[in-house]
Amino acid sequence: MTGLVVAMDGPSGSGKSSVSRGAARALGLRYLDTGAMYRAMTWWMLRQGVDLSDPAAVAARCGEPVVVSGTDPDGPAIHVGGVDVAGPIRESEVTGAVSAVAAVPEVRARLVALQREIIGDGGIVVEGRDIGTVVWPDAAVKIYLTASPEARARRRSAELAGSTVEAQREAMAKRDTLDSTRKTDPLSMAVGAVELDTSDLTLEEVIAEVLRLVAERE
Ligand code: C5P
Repeated sequence: MTGLVVAMDGPSGSGKSSVSRGAARALGLRYLDTGAMYRAMTWWMLRQGVDLSDPAAVAARCGEPVVVSGTDPDGPAIHVGGVDVAGPIRESEVTGAVSAVAAVPEVRARLVALQREIIGDGGIVVEGRDIGTVVWPDAAVKIYLTASPEARARRRSAELAGSTVEAQREAMAKRDTLDSTRKTDPLSMAVGAVELDTSDLTLEEVIAEVLRLVAERE
């Protein structure tokens, strides 16, 4: 008997992190940010001077970094080789490079295995791009969050000091294309997932809808 797993997938800026953390808190569950793990791997590769335009070079080194991810919705910790990288993984250098690293099948195999280990017996809300399709297809609740490009760009630029909505819209469109057209585990809606468009909803409204879906499916 395993505990509840909520799979929360969707593109960047759809509200996944805030919604997943809020829902995990409300349900008393753990929380896993799989995007942070791909970012941590990318941060390490950049520090090592690995040529990220060369998938073979990325594949050859991806077994080395020790990525440790916490599961507290109030402050999910992320360490690589004992270094706290929660801040650096949000910087633009990592954001601009992460999709190339995440497209390498060996990177995905390693991080998906780690994610399954962390999910373990469940009791967790997991956010990413391939949770309902690949990481945990048996999740009791699968949600696919979307929002209009305008709403997503607005949210991201409000989060990042000094960025414009237009610049965010462009950066996100580029990342979306890479994430949804890659060969291995592209971003797509899982069978059995419920699509939730968050463009015109407040965070509280989206969390309430997630809690309703959980109550309905449990
Ligand atoms: O969610 P976040 O924007 O932090 O994810 C960063 C990147 O990590 C995504 O753009 C995607 O390339 C990759 N990712 C992934 N699979 C996941 C989570 C994130 O490929 N499950």
